[in-house]
Amino acid sequence: MATNLLKGKRGIIFGALDPNSIAWKVAERCHEEGATFTLTNAPVALRMGAINELATKCNAQVIGADATSIEDLENLFTKSQEILGGKIDFVLHSIGMSPNVRKGRTYTDLDYDYYHKTVDISAMSLHKTLQTAMRLDAISEWGSVVALSYIAAQRVFPDYGDMADAKSLLESITRSFGYHYGKAKKVRINTISQSPTKTTAGQGVKGFDGFYNYADAMSPLGNASAEACADYCLTMFSDYTKMVTMQNLFHDGGFSFAGVSNEVMEKFSEQ
Ligand SMILES: NC(=O)c1ccc[n+]([C@@H]2O[C@H](COP(=O)([O-])OP(=O)(O)OC[C@H]3O[C@@H](n4cnc5c(N)ncnc54)[C@H](O)[C@@H]3O)[C@@H](O)[C@H]2O)c1
Repeated sequence: MATNLLKGKRGIIFGALDPNSIAWKVAERCHEEGATFTLTNAPVALRMGAINELATKCNAQVIGADATSIEDLENLFTKSQEILGGKIDFVLHSIGMSPNVRKGRTYTDLDYDYYHKTVDISAMSLHKTLQTAMRLDAISEWGSVVALSYIAAQRVFPDYGDMADAKSLLESITRSFGYHYGKAKKVRINTISQSPTKTTAGQGVKGFDGFYNYADAMSPLGNASAEACADYCLTMFSDYTKMVTMQNLFHDGGFSFAGVSNEVMEKFSEQ
């Protein structure tokens, strides 16, 4: 059901690791809607090779960048503008990684070197991306930047560990940078807070199936899929959402505002 929503727009998409990645679906949909873009991921992810399959499908070039490295980000924005032939209209930041979560370190037993990495990769990388883009004046007026978040930024999900802190910071950077970039260049910056989704990053969290099934039972619309998330990202990149900035937008089938559901009540009611 393509409508050329993004025809003529140029973008950079971070974080497509494999066909389950949310960024992968966003790239497929952006391509269908007429956008041109570059794909980027950390060198270690590129070695896995799957991204080349996506690049061929979307007629996109791949530029490696560790999102914590300013040098890599400068190269990414400079090369992307050369390849695409002008300033960037949209950026998807779809990056998350916690060595503490990966290695099973609980929130009260964090390794602080890992904690630093979690925050640098999952949150500060958004600031680095925005600051680099601003210095290079690489994003066009009314350009749109979307980063992906999770409701653990507002509420406690015990096994989400230090990623909760990273997501809180990510949402705060979105507001603070959104103010400055909006004033300077009318660039808008938002986070989309997505339902639990079966991806490599998602399934790395202990008890993911419990999270996933609970959220599905709580949400009046059920969990939002990666495909639906991609569609929402596209609307945020389009000209139909020009006045939306500095927001955390829940894309979760209603989970964030549901107190309890009949399904969950039934499980806890005495028979
Ligand atoms: N899956 C879920 O349940 C869920 C829910 C809400 C939000 N999110 C968020 O969505 C985003 C995308 O995750 P996903 O679920 O598609 O999983 P994913 O594992 O497919 O994507 C995570 C990406 O981050 C990349 N990355 C890690 N370190 C990097 C670095 N140093 N530089 C550049 N890239 C790096 C990985 O290579 C990978 O492509 C993340 O921000 C995640 O927290 C996921």
